[in-house]
Amino acid sequence: MSSYMSNQTAGASAPHHHEPLRFPEGFLWGAATSAHQVEGNNNKNDWWQWEQKPGHARSDRACDFWHRYQEDFDLAKRLYNNAHRLSIEWSRVEPSDGEFDEKALAHYRQILQALKERNMKVMLTLHHFTNPLWFTGRGGWESRQAVFYFARYVRKVAETMGDLVDFWITINEPLVYIGQGYSLGIWPPEKKNNWSAYKVFRNLTKGHKRAYQIIHEVMRQRWDRGAAVGIANNVSSFYAYRKHSFVDQSFVQLFDWLFDHSFYTFTKGTHDFLGLNYYFHYRIAAANVGNVQSMLAVRREKREMSDVGWEIYPQGIFEVLADLQSYGKPIYITENGIATANDDKRQRFLVSYLKEIYHAIQAGIDIRGYFYWSLLDNFEWEKGFTARFGLVEVDFETLARHPRQSFEIYRRICRENGINHDLMHLLGHAIRRDS
Ligand code: FCB
Repeated sequence: MSSYMSNQTAGASAPHHHEPLRFPEGFLWGAATSAHQVEGNNNKNDWWQWEQKPGHARSDRACDFWHRYQEDFDLAKRLYNNAHRLSIEWSRVEPSDGEFDEKALAHYRQILQALKERNMKVMLTLHHFTNPLWFTGRGGWESRQAVFYFARYVRKVAETMGDLVDFWITINEPLVYIGQGYSLGIWPPEKKNNWSAYKVFRNLTKGHKRAYQIIHEVMRQRWDRGAAVGIANNVSSFYAYRKHSFVDQSFVQLFDWLFDHSFYTFTKGTHDFLGLNYYFHYRIAAANVGNVQSMLAVRREKREMSDVGWEIYPQGIFEVLADLQSYGKPIYITENGIATANDDKRQRFLVSYLKEIYHAIQAGIDIRGYFYWSLLDNFEWEKGFTARFGLVEVDFETLARHPRQSFEIYRRICRENGINHDLMHLLGHAIRRDS
């Protein structure tokens, strides 16, 4: 019987069976956080200083993860996560120049140990936007000394807890850090200076390369094992708003190179894997050339968006994955998520983005893991606590954790290592046509 006939016979409303979208064996399922956004009271870094200015959001005690990590890792375990991404707060372990706080280092060891006890792989970020105040006081990433300081800190971390780390992220989103802090002047140090931005770019590439060598060296000599080192790069899908416009297309090429590829270009040979943070889809219209922000902001009208105005565009993740495949490295999606107080949206987001990732794997792209941003609602930088990225809702009055329905959806996906067909109804009406 032809499938057309059998569909006819079965009738439109009869239950139908489809194979689940299975992910490769050993695929890593996790969630991601960063120290300053969840720990609380990180009062020795440049973000804390920024937060004290009038009108600025304040992290205060954040999620108090510093004390509640056991509870939070129990949640991650309940999710059937087999991996977790988190970061070390540099200013905690090195509160003043060259002086390491052994108690803080020991505390981080306990945190990582708590993941190991739950049989989870550890992905550790060394720099996630924040810097110790003593470091910024010496010129921060603009200074020639920056690489030396960063390298000293990286060595210390690798020596004291390298045995507990499976994947290293040296730097989170270098281009975002530069853009927000040195071009747009929104984040500390609130500069709008392209020369500074360029110097920071140079030093971050050098910092990454140095960290790459040090981690491999320490892991070999001190811990007698290899290492997997990379960065978490914020990659976007860029489109020409006017498909046939040469100018629009040229800007697509330029932005694509600058944001998605430039850091890799200048740090060739020092990536064991690619870490991708995917959030943005841009339709570039070269209407307001010269003003990068407005060029990126235009042409999103009437698209479905998150609470913070970021377009929901699942196909985009397939496209960046296909693009980055050319590096020939394993890929981990080190962040992907949505800020929304409407959890139905998050459920649909999860299934639709993961479906694209599934198809990318089917297309032969070597994708090894996915980390949802974020496990918990947390301090979303200049936006404060209003952007709700969590699978777990946090009541910031009581700090109580309440898993959302999307937590249950992600839990099923992780447990089954795939997306069962019944979850497809979350995608909306399109399912009828598909089936
Ligand atoms: C990324 C950051 C992360 C978080 C998410 C929403 O750019 O790496 O800290 O703020 O965006």
